[in-house]
Amino acid sequence: MQKIIEKAKNGLQGEIEIPADKSISHRAVMLASLANGISVIKNFSHGQDPLSTLKVLSDLGVKSEFIDNKTLKITSKGKLNTPKQELFCGNSGTTMRLVSGILSGQNFNSTLTGDESLTLRPMKRIIEPLTLMGAKIESDNFHSPLKISGSKLFGIDYISKLASAQVKSSIILAGLFADSKTSVTEPYTSRNHTEIMLKYLGANILTDGLKVTVSKSTLEAKTIKIPGDISSAAYFIAAALIVPNSNVILKNVGLNPTRTGILEVCKKMGGNIEILNIKTISGERVGDIRVKYSELEGCTIEGEIIPRLIDELPVIAVLATQAKGQTIIKNAEDLRNKEADRIKTTVCELAKLGAEITETPDGFIVQGKKELNGDTIVETYKDHRLAMSMFVAGLICKKPIKINDCEWVNISFPEFEKLFYLLFS
Ligand code: S3P
Repeated sequence: MQKIIEKAKNGLQGEIEIPADKSISHRAVMLASLANGISVIKNFSHGQDPLSTLKVLSDLGVKSEFIDNKTLKITSKGKLNTPKQELFCGNSGTTMRLVSGILSGQNFNSTLTGDESLTLRPMKRIIEPLTLMGAKIESDNFHSPLKISGSKLFGIDYISKLASAQVKSSIILAGLFADSKTSVTEPYTSRNHTEIMLKYLGANILTDGLKVTVSKSTLEAKTIKIPGDISSAAYFIAAALIVPNSNVILKNVGLNPTRTGILEVCKKMGGNIEILNIKTISGERVGDIRVKYSELEGCTIEGEIIPRLIDELPVIAVLATQAKGQTIIKNAEDLRNKEADRIKTTVCELAKLGAEITETPDGFIVQGKKELNGDTIVETYKDHRLAMSMFVAGLICKKPIKINDCEWVNISFPEFEKLFYLLFS
């Protein structure tokens, strides 16, 4: 589906509620499926990726029912059943990598598959540590389909080269089935929703700096409330910062410090951002974010902050085109392994719009402030974050832009466009 986006003539104004966090929604379904009893998940995401996780767990014998639009009831005996078919993870790397950890420790065999993009994504990062734990995983040269033969697992002390929540979580989830303690240490802290939810559900899990240790646990079936997704909020934050006369409040956004790199960067760039009404729900920090149009300045983004804003880098590139001076993104080479190569594609599409942006092996360099011309067709590469970043760029282009394959937004944020137009009315 092609969309035409025109320059925003007025600022974004008003208040919206940001829909549920995708990462936390995945984990809620997985962990509720491992708990014995009825779990209620409030504010479950309608994104296609979490729905892929729900379908996979249903195929593993877990019963689920939507009580209302956003409330999901999961009924489980705390154990999974042999699937009758291959388990299709769609476009979702989180589903495939985390579920692999769970399936490695079961007493049955299973096969995980995905769409074309997921088949291209690297699985060595989870196959290696899971194999060290005793898992038996056959793959197509470390790509899916993954054929997992359920095995007895033993605990390991794994030092990960990557700061990746998917790798860490896959090992932690396998650790729930291992015969002794499992630890994983990462170079920098990646999102810690698995650890927080496991603790909330009563698991034996301990975080000590960069090291997480887990052992066999019985999980309680509880009510899990999911906060709004800061990665979805990022598009509204960016748009409000760069469209003149904007003033918005984004309500109920997850503010877990392992995800708030975007807020730190926007503030560093001179963005007028205020956090209001902070509270904790189901172990996660949540609050409202007020954002006003701001004159921005470029900055360097590198090191430990990268995993805390990894999914926001394409839209940060859009912001950088409107910031005075140079913005440099370094140490983000793993962006090339996402749904698309997000370094190459972000650079290519923003350059088409008239941005001064250069690709580097591990990031990009943007020279601002540059008025974007638009007047062209941009591609999304079937990548939801590219599609939403291009939409935001379109709001500041002199002439309208056309965005191809916009429906990929539905992977994480089906309400995206409707919410944007609420702020323009
Ligand atoms: C995710 C972790 C991140 C992120 C992805 C979701 C998760 O991937 O990019 O969108 O839910 O654990 P990596 O852990 O590979 O960095």
